[in-house]
Amino acid sequence: MSGLYLHIPFCRKRCTYCDFHFSTTFDNYRSSLIAALVRELILRSPESTAPLQTIYFGGGTPSILTSAELGHIFEAVHQHYKVTSDCEISFEANPEDINQKNLEAWKAVGINRLSIGLQTFSNEDLLWMNRAHQVKDGLDGIKLAQNLGFDNISVDLIYGLPGQSLAAWEASLAAVFELGVQHLSAYCLTIEPKTALNHLVRKKKLQPADEVLQSEQFLSLLDKSKAFGFEQYEISNFSLKGFHSKHNSSYWKFEPYIGIGPSAHSFDGEKRRWNVRNNTTYTKNVGKNETWFDCEYLSSNEYRNEQILLGLRTIWGLDIRTLKSEFTTKEKAQIEEFTLLGWLCWEQDQITLTQEGKLHADGIAAALFRLD
Ligand SMILES: C[S@@+](CC[C@H](N)C(=O)[O-])C[C@H]1O[C@@H](n2cnc3c(N)ncnc32)[C@H](O)[C@@H]1O
Ligand code: SF4
Repeated sequence: MSGLYLHIPFCRKRCTYCDFHFSTTFDNYRSSLIAALVRELILRSPESTAPLQTIYFGGGTPSILTSAELGHIFEAVHQHYKVTSDCEISFEANPEDINQKNLEAWKAVGINRLSIGLQTFSNEDLLWMNRAHQVKDGLDGIKLAQNLGFDNISVDLIYGLPGQSLAAWEASLAAVFELGVQHLSAYCLTIEPKTALNHLVRKKKLQPADEVLQSEQFLSLLDKSKAFGFEQYEISNFSLKGFHSKHNSSYWKFEPYIGIGPSAHSFDGEKRRWNVRNNTTYTKNVGKNETWFDCEYLSSNEYRNEQILLGLRTIWGLDIRTLKSEFTTKEKAQIEEFTLLGWLCWEQDQITLTQEGKLHADGIAAALFRLD
């Protein structure tokens, strides 16, 4: 598996909850940043030793790109990388950018999978989230994309929102499964330290959701997705048969990928590399060929910890044959304890989370971590 990730670090507005890397003021350096991104693509092409099977545009907001900018990026990809004929090309599109002209431009460059950030079916929620669209924009956008032949569409939703009842979440789920989309990513709201949401909560302007209610919403997500024929193949990801995100699955399966753009991460099977999280420094340093990234070889414990964390989050589970050393007696006892609690299932070489265990995924993995 060989994947390419491109990070587009521009957004129109700052969503209250978001801690990803982006800037909302970029007019004066937009073209030089795209030039740097293309330059990084070219400089790093020798790292791509096999034809690309997946390309993923994430952000930030890739759908801010003009068709000329997209064309420029794709030209560099096709000139400098081999791309398989059935390459999955995913593109995060914000509802306010979905219109006929853009959809046609996205199709023309080969984008064949859209990930659309609906986030919620409540206009009131979209308001405190500071989103740049209303519910109708997302729904109209999905219909239009389907009419234009996009047949691999994913929707992002967030649950565990302040004031969101179980009934409201279940109504959102019923609505999303009626849309005829192939994939759903559903994330529990996290309150990140440096966000406006954290400030609103600290100032008591928003009351965070109760954790028990969030767990009920998660369990209802598991039930409803199954009832609508969606398979949960990772804690937050659900799809119809044949529509797993190939790109994201490669992260969870610990396969190599190249990440381009400010803040993008890369993994070559041994070391992790991460680009600087600053648009100006990135643009300047890539332009001058001065270092714009840091990297680190994973120690054998770090490698093992990530295998456990990522493996347990997926339906494929943790394949213990891939671990370089066996579990110690103490670790086996810990696994036995989780099994008795009904959280883990160990069959032959695979360890997977049970439904109940999925509520405790990160804690279970952390209990099995080895520290350097
Ligand atoms: C990096 S965002 C980019 C997507 C796109 N710009 C958009 O806003 O739709 C990817 C997804 O992460 C999720 N996300 C971001 N911050 C989150 C948070 N604090 N808690 C839960 N989900 C979050 C949202 O569902 C979002 O669609
Ligand atoms: S959620 Fe999307 S649009 Fe909102 S700030 Fe984050 S990346 Fe930008």
